Amino acid sequence: MRKSAVDQASDNLKMLLRRRRSIRFYDELPLSLCSVERILAAGQSITSDDGKRTAPSAHALYPLDLFVIVRRVQGLEPGFYAYAPASQQLLLTGKPLADGVLLSTSLANDEWLEDAAMVVVVGARLNEAIGQFAEQQPDGMRGARYVQFEAGACTQKMYLAVAAEGLGAVVVMGFDDDRLNEALGLPRHTVPIALFCVGHPKER
Ligand SMILES: Cc1cc2nc3c(=O)[nH]c(=O)nc-3n(C[C@H](O)[C@H](O)[C@H](O)COP(=O)(O)O)c2cc1C
Repeated sequence: MRKSAVDQASDNLKMLLRRRRSIRFYDELPLSLCSVERILAAGQSITSDDGKRTAPSAHALYPLDLFVIVRRVQGLEPGFYAYAPASQQLLLTGKPLADGVLLSTSLANDEWLEDAAMVVVVGARLNEAIGQFAEQQPDGMRGARYVQFEAGACTQKMYLAVAAEGLGAVVVMGFDDDRLNEALGLPRHTVPIALFCVGHPKER
C-alpha cells in the first residue's frame, strides 16, 4: 500500500534524525554550492511573507546572523561571507582566515576547525536581545538565554540539512571568546555563539 504524504514526511524526518551525528573528520572534496545554500537556508532563511524564519525566535526578534568561512565550495572563491536570509544569498565581505587562526581560538585543539570545507559562524546581536527582554529580567540573562536557545534551534536545522546532503558536520562552542571575536572581526555588536564545521566525511 502506498504511504500517505504525512507518513512519508514523517519517515523522512525520522531517517534524518537517526542519521544526524557529529562528524569531525573530512576529506578534501569541495562542497557543492547547492548543498551550501540548502544548509544555510535550513538554518536561517525567511520562510513566510511576514518575515518569519525556519528557526523560532522570541518576539520574532531574529537576533541571529550567519557568516561563512568558505574554504572549498564549488563556484565560490575562498573568503568570508555574510548570509542574507531574505535573498538566501552569500555576500563576500572579506578574505578567508589565515591557516591556523581558527584553531588558535579552540579550547580543546579541535583540528576540524581547520579541516572543514566551510565553517558557519552563528553570530548574534546579543545586546539587542538583552535590551528587548530586559523588562522580563533586568540583569539581561533572559535575553542571553533566548539567544542561546535560538542558536541551538538554528544549528540543529543545519545539522539535519547536512544529514540530508550526505555530508558531515560538528558544532564547536569550545572557543576563547575574545580570541574568536578578534579573529572574525564580525560587525559591531555581533558576537559569535557557535561554529559549525561542514565537510565531506572522511572514510576511516
Ligand atoms: C552546546 C554544544 C557545544 C559543543 N561543543 C563542541 C566543541 O567545542 N567541540 C566539538 O568537537 N564538539 C562539540 N559539540 C558536539 C558534541 O560533542 C556532540 O554533539 C556530542 O558528542 C554528541 O554526539 P552527536 O552530536 O554525534 O550526537 C558540542 C555540542 C553542543 C550541543
